[in-house]
Amino acid sequence: MDAAALQQGLARWRALSNDQVARLKAVLFALCLLPLALLAWNAWNDALGANPIEAVTRTLGDWALRLLLITLTVTPLRRLTGLHWLTRLRRMLGLFTFFYAVLHFSSYLVLDQFFDWPEIAKDILKRPFITVGVMTFALLVPLAATSTNAMVRRLGGRRWQALHRSVYAIAILAVLHFWWMVKQDVTQPLIYSAVLTVLLGVRALWREQERRRQLGGAYLPQVRRGKIIPIVSRRP
Ligand code: HEM
Repeated sequence: MDAAALQQGLARWRALSNDQVARLKAVLFALCLLPLALLAWNAWNDALGANPIEAVTRTLGDWALRLLLITLTVTPLRRLTGLHWLTRLRRMLGLFTFFYAVLHFSSYLVLDQFFDWPEIAKDILKRPFITVGVMTFALLVPLAATSTNAMVRRLGGRRWQALHRSVYAIAILAVLHFWWMVKQDVTQPLIYSAVLTVLLGVRALWREQERRRQLGGAYLPQVRRGKIIPIVSRRP
């Protein structure tokens, strides 16, 4: 596909109507439920392998992490493509991340530990990957709780944004949780780490560009009334 055809295709996608975006959102909603439906289907058909509990917990954990990374892809993708309506899908993706994290945690509590609280407490204290998992989950809760428009208004845009910036720490912790869990084959955590590095890297790059743009020329020598103004006294 040449550049002109790509531009044309993008222009069509940019011009989606509200109705079309709403339909796309409904399709995405169904797609997000698909992994759960598949898991239920496999459980029903006894097709979860030798260790079904492990399969359930792991599949749900995988999808929590995947959806978290997909959610973090929305903003860079929007900036690169100009598809502004992508932002309207972000909240739903974030809430599905939380949904799968809740199911993953529940599967650990109910199927794996069967509410054995002393054992769970021991696990949290003794196994670093569980400690990090619990921390990740605890940090996700306030984001899910403040995801509504009413909460954005109540907190105010700035505070809401500051709170939701913790999603970057959450993503790092979630990947760390996976790294610490695996004993031998690190291929998957490596792939997730690479994806996260790119997602955080582009943001850092854009932030730096924005900072430089705002400083715009502040570091160029300035002369006022025949005197060179020292750079240090002009720093913001
Ligand atoms: C209360 C919090 C959490 C607990 C107790 C927990 C517990 C666990 C356990 C026990 C496993 C290993 C399953 C097994 O081998 O049987 C696991 C794996 C995993 N968890 Fe969590 N987790 C928590 C939160 C999270 C969160 C918030 C995420 C992501 C956002 C996550 C993502 C994963 C992933 C990706 C795996 C590896 C799955 C695989 O092997 O393919 N976990 N977790």
